[in-house]
Amino acid sequence: MARIPDAFIDDLLARSDIVEVVGSRVPLKRQGKEYAARCPFHDERSASFTVSPTKQFYHCFGCGAHGTAISFLMNYDRLEFLDAVEELAKRAGMEVPRDANPRSPQQQDDSRDQYSALDAATRFFQKQLEGNDKALAYLDGRGVDADTRARFSIGYAPDGYSALKDALGKDERRMKLLDRVGLFSKNDRGHVYDKFRDRVMFPIFDRRGRVIAFGGRVMEKDDGPKYLNSPETALFHKGRELYGLWQVRQANQKIERLIVVEGYMDVVSLFQFGVTQAVATLGTATTPDHAELLFRNAPDVYFCFDGDNAGRKAGWRALESVLPRMKDGRQAFFLFLPDGEDPDTIVRKEGAEAFDTRLKQATPLSQFFFDELTREINLGTLDGKARLAERAKPMLAQIPDGAFGDLMKQELQRMTGVGRAPAGNAPATAPVRRAQVAPVQKRSLVRAAIAILLQQPSLALGLEGHHAIAGLRLPGIELLLELLELVQQRPDISTGALLQHFDGREEQAALHRLAAVALPGDEASWTQELHDAVVQLEKQLLQQRVDELLAKQRQQGLDETDKYELRELLKTRATMR
Ligand code: UTP
Ligand code: MN
Repeated sequence: MARIPDAFIDDLLARSDIVEVVGSRVPLKRQGKEYAARCPFHDERSASFTVSPTKQFYHCFGCGAHGTAISFLMNYDRLEFLDAVEELAKRAGMEVPRDANPRSPQQQDDSRDQYSALDAATRFFQKQLEGNDKALAYLDGRGVDADTRARFSIGYAPDGYSALKDALGKDERRMKLLDRVGLFSKNDRGHVYDKFRDRVMFPIFDRRGRVIAFGGRVMEKDDGPKYLNSPETALFHKGRELYGLWQVRQANQKIERLIVVEGYMDVVSLFQFGVTQAVATLGTATTPDHAELLFRNAPDVYFCFDGDNAGRKAGWRALESVLPRMKDGRQAFFLFLPDGEDPDTIVRKEGAEAFDTRLKQATPLSQFFFDELTREINLGTLDGKARLAERAKPMLAQIPDGAFGDLMKQELQRMTGVGRAPAGNAPATAPVRRAQVAPVQKRSLVRAAIAILLQQPSLALGLEGHHAIAGLRLPGIELLLELLELVQQRPDISTGALLQHFDGREEQAALHRLAAVALPGDEASWTQELHDAVVQLEKQLLQQRVDELLAKQRQQGLDETDKYELRELLKTRATMR
């Protein structure tokens, strides 16, 4: 993936206003120097979500959500990093640069052209549908109304071998583009023809609403495969896309749940009947990428499959993909439909409410997990219990640390007795949750300096010779130096932009917590405190070097330069007192 230079991110954040970005999506109330709102990332009555115009970042004291304008767009609009950057850049009127490799400007132009070729094809298919009675009758017959056709941009690819080619492949360049986006097939003799012929076309949109591929359905039974999908292309990787996700996002301010179904028509029909949170995997099993994408969009995910053997197998595959993603706060459910039904037929027969009721009764992941594993195991025997433990353990180990994983492991213990403390010992207690980092430790000098810098980065500029603390062996010193360095390079940097530099690094969470605190004092007292902290650190470094030299003197003796250095150090130390 193309990397965006840090300097650009800094500029972008400097030219964006987080209050504007958040405020255009969430109603903000002014509260002193900051803005407050009810947190958009968790349910709450009071307003614990704050946006700071000076620090240029947001923080929720309720759920701990925090970040910059970029992370807000990622979490609220559910954009990928690059997309969030592009969105902000668009607002700020900036062009996103990318490193020359791996994506050259040429390649960028190329993908832009590919999107527009796909867009042109979509419109062509839609136009063709208007004039084709057979396809119109087919959609009428399946009960797809006009609104829904428009919402999903459903179209029709004409019969014959060159309708699309003739209409859009006007020159060599355009032929190449259509080929690259997967709209052509080639026969043995190299003759190029339309891939989709006489099919009802379902465009597949990416997360930003651009068409990246198609699925085409035959109208008569024996006209080849029922659905034909675009091949994998530069823009389309079916293991990473979910049909309908774009439409779901358009229809829902906040997505409480996502329902994963098997087919295009399932998504379309559910939508038409008012269930506007359905997405489909594209003729593949649920991949780990899908699982991540699903949970990034909604806390609750329902997998809906046929009730037959194949359906349960598909359910198990989905379970395997979501287990490693089951952080606390996320839930997965499994719904198996009666034989011969799919969501399309069910919702038409029973309506949205009945479908909702089925969802409410769906099997939670925990139950599906143990039900499936114990299907052919006799838990009445020791062997059976051992077998269950052996199968379950490696899978449970994949669950991220948290209450859910703990409970699953407890349940396994309950069922098998494996892993429980031997009789006679204290009864098994709830597993100890990892302790929160002790909040009331005395703030170290380094920590105090970092906290002040995060409060107001520009204070770093008043420090002279802060390099005099490089080499000091104290926890956090490297981090402090890095922050000082960053501010030297970007004197106007905001707190938010500073934090952005630590995106994806383990220090990030701690930095965010420090930045979120409103430090007592004002600019003058912070300036003084920061200065004092650095002076103290300089003294400590000096002492560290003195100690080193004294130790060397005891062990092996000092040479002339060492002696000179020690004398100078001691002199300086005397003046610092
Ligand atoms: P189904 O065969 O269950 O079809 O395929 P469906 O969704 O119920 O479609 P209708 O109602 O008959 O129109 C489920 C999904 O599997 C993929 C498609 O994504 C389809 O929506 N599939 C199916 C293919 O990719 N190719 C096929 O030949 C069949
Ligand atoms: Mn169907």
